[in-house]
Amino acid sequence: EGVRQNVYTGVLPDWDDVERLVAQAFDRYRDRDDGAQADYIPALAEVDPNLFAIAAADVNGGVHKIGSVDVSFTIQSISKAFVYALACDRLGRDAVRDRVGVDNTGLPFDSVMAIELQKGHPRNPMVNAGALTTTSLVPGETFGEQWQLIRETLSAFAGRELQVDEQVYRSEALTNQRNRAIAQLLESYGRIDVDPLEVVDVYTRQCSLLVDVTDLAVMGATLADGGVNPVTGATVVSPDVCRDTLAALAASGMYERSGEWLFEVGIPAKSGVSGGIVAITPGKGAIATFAPPLDEAGNSVRGQLAIGYLSRTLGLNVF
Ligand code: DON
Repeated sequence: EGVRQNVYTGVLPDWDDVERLVAQAFDRYRDRDDGAQADYIPALAEVDPNLFAIAAADVNGGVHKIGSVDVSFTIQSISKAFVYALACDRLGRDAVRDRVGVDNTGLPFDSVMAIELQKGHPRNPMVNAGALTTTSLVPGETFGEQWQLIRETLSAFAGRELQVDEQVYRSEALTNQRNRAIAQLLESYGRIDVDPLEVVDVYTRQCSLLVDVTDLAVMGATLADGGVNPVTGATVVSPDVCRDTLAALAASGMYERSGEWLFEVGIPAKSGVSGGIVAITPGKGAIATFAPPLDEAGNSVRGQLAIGYLSRTLGLNVF
């Protein structure tokens, strides 16, 4: 397939092309078996590594999907993008920027050293330190109220009520000593000013929300559509918040590989350890993938390949 250059025109790719190219991307990479799935959360190690799904959703509400589309998986770090959007929407961009930052750390997502090097500043909302700080800022009188708002907002992004995978939640809650350490370190620097262990609990729940690949694509398409869910028509966040969230994703959504990703694929994206990725082209739509085996940075191997292919063939690169 040729490389398409329609990026600055704002013209949506032809819908029949999307269907055909999503199927081609699936066939091209379905047999790739490199990478390793995350096992630091025991429940994630048990997932079938062969699962593979792709969904594309555009700003008109159209969806194409293929593969293991009926399989649900926990959203994990992809939640960080949507909770960040929620926090910016409720508190304003500057309040969140001052507390969390927007620059890449150049270090892994769960790095303690990154926090120490910046004297307690998380640098960006897509690493665990920044995500925990962001979650701590979500409005609510109680941690229960914060959690309700997070669940309702992520559900509005998806266009249906999302539920927690209790097994993954419990598995991670028993093994997330590192996140507890990070939250307490942030408290020691005055960066988190509520009970850090409760913040970790809300964060662990948000990571354990179950989605399928179509949910992720629609969540991404809502950011592409200026905060209006293109399937339900609900306004979830403001257009300014979408712009700010996509800027943060461009800088840090693919961890310390974000520069490489922008150079090769050119679409703001967020990945998670359960094997999901969502990539968002403003004004057009989003591509989501699910394939559990990850590279060393924690990004799904087949997901990156499929999104790269669709970026080139559909002209989704924003540069
Ligand atoms: O914080 C954690 O360890 C997980 N709940 C989420 C991690 C994640 O998805 C980040 N990366 N790939």
